[in-house]
Amino acid sequence: MNTSVNTPAGTSGALPTTDPALEDALRAGLDLVEAKLRAAVANADPIADAPSRHLVEAGGKRVRPMLTLLGAHLANPGARVPEEVVDAAVVCELTHLASLYHDDVMDSAPTRRGAPAAQHLYGNNVAILTGDLLFARASNVVSALGPVAVKVQAETFERLCLGQLHETVGPRPGEDAVVHYLDVLSDKTASLIATAGRFGAVFAGGSDDVVQAMIRYGEDVGVAFQLADDVLDLTSDVGESGKRPGTDLREGVPTLPVLLARRAGAEGDAAAQRVVELLDSGRLGDDAVLAEAVAALRRHPVTDQARRTAREWAHRASTHLAALPPSPAREALETYAATIADRVV
Ligand code: IPE
Ligand code: IPE
Ligand code: MG
Ligand code: MG
Repeated sequence: MNTSVNTPAGTSGALPTTDPALEDALRAGLDLVEAKLRAAVANADPIADAPSRHLVEAGGKRVRPMLTLLGAHLANPGARVPEEVVDAAVVCELTHLASLYHDDVMDSAPTRRGAPAAQHLYGNNVAILTGDLLFARASNVVSALGPVAVKVQAETFERLCLGQLHETVGPRPGEDAVVHYLDVLSDKTASLIATAGRFGAVFAGGSDDVVQAMIRYGEDVGVAFQLADDVLDLTSDVGESGKRPGTDLREGVPTLPVLLARRAGAEGDAAAQRVVELLDSGRLGDDAVLAEAVAALRRHPVTDQARRTAREWAHRASTHLAALPPSPAREALETYAATIADRVV
């Protein structure tokens, strides 16, 4: 990645490959994505320019562009990455970015990518409108990729919104909370991660087998990614992840560790009951109580259980690649999946 431009938390992260040719190709591809991304968020209107650039410039891991590039290299090993692949990666990162502006308002998040969340700088209305603006930019870029890509991006964005909506509303009466939660993760996060890899394979001219493998891989690795994110809400510190731990707990987002703790508490586990008591105390607005709840949940075996669940999803992701010929890109995708549950950013 272009470490000379801006390297806040995440952007200078290691790539999941030791193959020198693939590493060089990924870094070159990510540099191209970065340049186009920055051009895509720039705005002639100075009122819109600073808020639109805020999160891109704050950093981020660029996971979705990396998966687009890996999808392309998987489809066409050793070949130069076509311009459409770079544009598709930009579309995915823009869609992701826009969703972050909205998500931080919804979650009352104080920080993102190590910087103040946009609404703290510009207010809720400007943050929401900036998210809308970036969605519009994503639509603009994807329009050059043809009607099929436009439809895929629209369906992906719809799933992302539905996932956020279902998370907000919660399970229907009688619906299993864990099943509901995993469906939410598929929609709000895996949908876009799957589309990122799919676009890479499609625009590099991949066969149907490769495209389907990338979709299935992305759907499962995307759930693993969000499971790991939910564990990070308990185990990371702001210096690493750029996000404040406990944000999910404070907002009452029922992540897997919380759901498992509630289940264990109902079955008589005293430590889990203590966690649930803290979660339901109505006192999580107090930083000390929130820190206590985070620590208690992190200590409880349910957090490790959630991490193991992330590993299972990630392992399943790699099985979708098993029938494809070995290649550095396939190996990188497998490495990425193998490390995702234990990621620290
Ligand atoms: C955060 O995504 C939102 C989720 C879907 C969990 P990332 O963890 O990819 O955030 P950045 O792009 O690196 O900031
Ligand atoms: C939101 O999940 C994922 C999106 C689709 C934006 P989170 O609320 O867990 O994401 P973070 O932790 O704020 O990045
Ligand atoms: Mg959030
Ligand atoms: Mg989170």
